[in-house]
Amino acid sequence: MPPDTTQRCVRVNLGPRSYDARVGVGLLQHLGEFVRTACPAPGRAHLFFDEAIEPELVHAACASLASHGVRAFTRGLSLGEGDKTLDTLGGLLRELAEHRSERHEPLIALGGGLLGDAVGFAAAVHRRGVPWINCPTTLLAMVDAGIGGKTGVNLEVGPGPSRHLLKNMVGAFHQPAVVIADVAPLRTLPPRHLSGGLAECIKHAMIARSVLGEPGGDLTAWTTSALPAARRLDNATLIELIARHVALKARVVEADERETQTRDSGRILLNLGHTFGHAIETLDDCDLIHGEAVGLGLLAAANTALALGLCDATIPAMVQAALHDAGLPARVPLPDDGVILERMAHDKKSREGRLRLVLPTGPGRAAVVEGPSPEAVARGIASIRV
Ligand SMILES: NC(=O)c1ccc[n+]([C@@H]2O[C@H](COP(=O)([O-])OP(=O)(O)OC[C@H]3O[C@@H](n4cnc5c(N)ncnc54)[C@H](O)[C@@H]3O)[C@@H](O)[C@H]2O)c1
Repeated sequence: MPPDTTQRCVRVNLGPRSYDARVGVGLLQHLGEFVRTACPAPGRAHLFFDEAIEPELVHAACASLASHGVRAFTRGLSLGEGDKTLDTLGGLLRELAEHRSERHEPLIALGGGLLGDAVGFAAAVHRRGVPWINCPTTLLAMVDAGIGGKTGVNLEVGPGPSRHLLKNMVGAFHQPAVVIADVAPLRTLPPRHLSGGLAECIKHAMIARSVLGEPGGDLTAWTTSALPAARRLDNATLIELIARHVALKARVVEADERETQTRDSGRILLNLGHTFGHAIETLDDCDLIHGEAVGLGLLAAANTALALGLCDATIPAMVQAALHDAGLPARVPLPDDGVILERMAHDKKSREGRLRLVLPTGPGRAAVVEGPSPEAVARGIASIRV
């Protein structure tokens, strides 16, 4: 079969910080062209790549840079969430300084959301800010983390044994010069991480009408129907899925670039499922990845909304079917409600100990609900407990 060369370009409109997100298959083979367009005459670039990516793709990206007159310093990284720290950032910055990286030379991040957050933050602070190009290689990074310019690392706090990481505590808003979402690397992404990215797409589908108005209804219906083909890595479906979800994320970011709005803004609605999800994710013996916890959180939120009379039973049924089609768990063993509620109370959206949840209110619609009854929240938790 000939390669699918369909390409999509979504503009993220942020005035002087506007940029294109390009979506397609085989785009890394043209990286040099994209870099030259986004950063005229860079001379050199510093490419940090995730070592889990196929070496052929890294070579193709470097060959394209070279053929466009861009000399690339490359550095493979293998980072876990525990390495997303100021120490790692310091290492990246020292390396850039040792290479005498200049102000106009872009950094290129070729990896998942974790690597993108760290390299983007290095770009934000190296020489007080240099351009960066984001080439996300996980579905989550393509549809979510890679768009919006939020960069950063976790902060280690606390003495001795109580030492722990505060996630994404230190960072900067620093928009990339261009985003290159090539679906080719998704071939090697572990299936759980592909499903995890689909959880964020289901979330987008659940808020699409609130964010985009009536046209959002189409995204809701289309996304749920596209999940099986996306999971089979059908290129055309992936390109369409990523382009549509990048567009939704772009509209949210355009309306509130630096997350300063508080009530019912799109940025807040992006937290749908995350209050439950974070509570589950941080349980001591939890072995779920983020997207799996978010998927469970979406179902718990839908059943909480049903218990509160905010939506009818079709919403939890839709979420349940979508989780199934995306290969995500719908039930897991969970501790007592008290343990989960306690963690939810610490969520960043809670105010003075009063729980605030983003809950679905209809197909593609969601809203912030202040102080939902504990009984309704318990119904939500029970719906995802084995
Ligand atoms: N900046 C934002 O707005 C934002 C939003 C959401 C999440 N995040 C951050 O993103 C991170 C999570 O991102 P993620 O889900 O992409 O995880 P990740 O970057 O940790 O990648 C997941 C795993 O897949 C591997 N991998 C990446 N691409 C691969 C490929 N093509 N083939 C094979 N393996 C591959 C990685 O090495 C890793 O083991 C978290 O640190 C989170 O805080 C940031």
